[in-house]
Amino acid sequence: LTLVAALMNLRLLVTALAALTTLTSCGITGLYDGQRASARLQSRSGSHVTGWVIFTQVGDRVRVTGDLAGHTPGPKGFHIHEKGDCTAPDAMSAGGHFNPGNVKHGAPGEGHAGDFGNIVFDDYGSATINMMVSGVSVSKDKPNGIIGRAVLIHAQSDDLKTDPTGNAGCRVACGVID
Ligand code: CU
Ligand code: ZN
Repeated sequence: LTLVAALMNLRLLVTALAALTTLTSCGITGLYDGQRASARLQSRSGSHVTGWVIFTQVGDRVRVTGDLAGHTPGPKGFHIHEKGDCTAPDAMSAGGHFNPGNVKHGAPGEGHAGDFGNIVFDDYGSATINMMVSGVSVSKDKPNGIIGRAVLIHAQSDDLKTDPTGNAGCRVACGVID
C-alpha cells in the first residue's frame, strides 16, 4: 500500500512538472526575446526631472520605452551620450552625443547614432516613451552598442540640425544604461 501511495505521489509530481513545462512554452515572449538594458534617470542642473527608460533589441532595431516626469510641457531633446557617467551636477561628465559614425548632429536616423530627437512632455510635465530606433544596438561590445553609455533629457527642444548639440540647452536628467 505504501508503494502505491508513493507511486501516486510520483505521478502527481510528474503531472505538476508537465504543467510547469507547458507554462514556460506558451510562446508569448515575442518582442522581449532580444537583449535588454535600462537606465534610471536622475535630476541634474537643478531640475526635478526623473524617470526610467528601457531598451530592447528587436531584430536590427531597438524599441525604447519609458516614463518621465517633472519637466515643463513641450518637446525636449532626448539623446544617448558617449560616456556612462552622470556624476557631474550638470551631467557634462556624460560627454557629447554618442557618435560612432563620426557624422554631424541631425534628426533620428540621420545624425549621430545617439540622436533620438525629442520627447513630448504633456501639460503636467510627464512623458511616455514608445519608439523604435535604428543605428544603435543593445550591446556592450558592438561599435554602436549603448550599454555603458548615458541617456539624457534636455531643458529645451532639439532643433535636429545645430551641430553638435541640437541647441537643446541644459542637461536636466541623466541615467547610465546597464
Ligand atoms: Cu543630449
Ligand atoms: Zn547629436
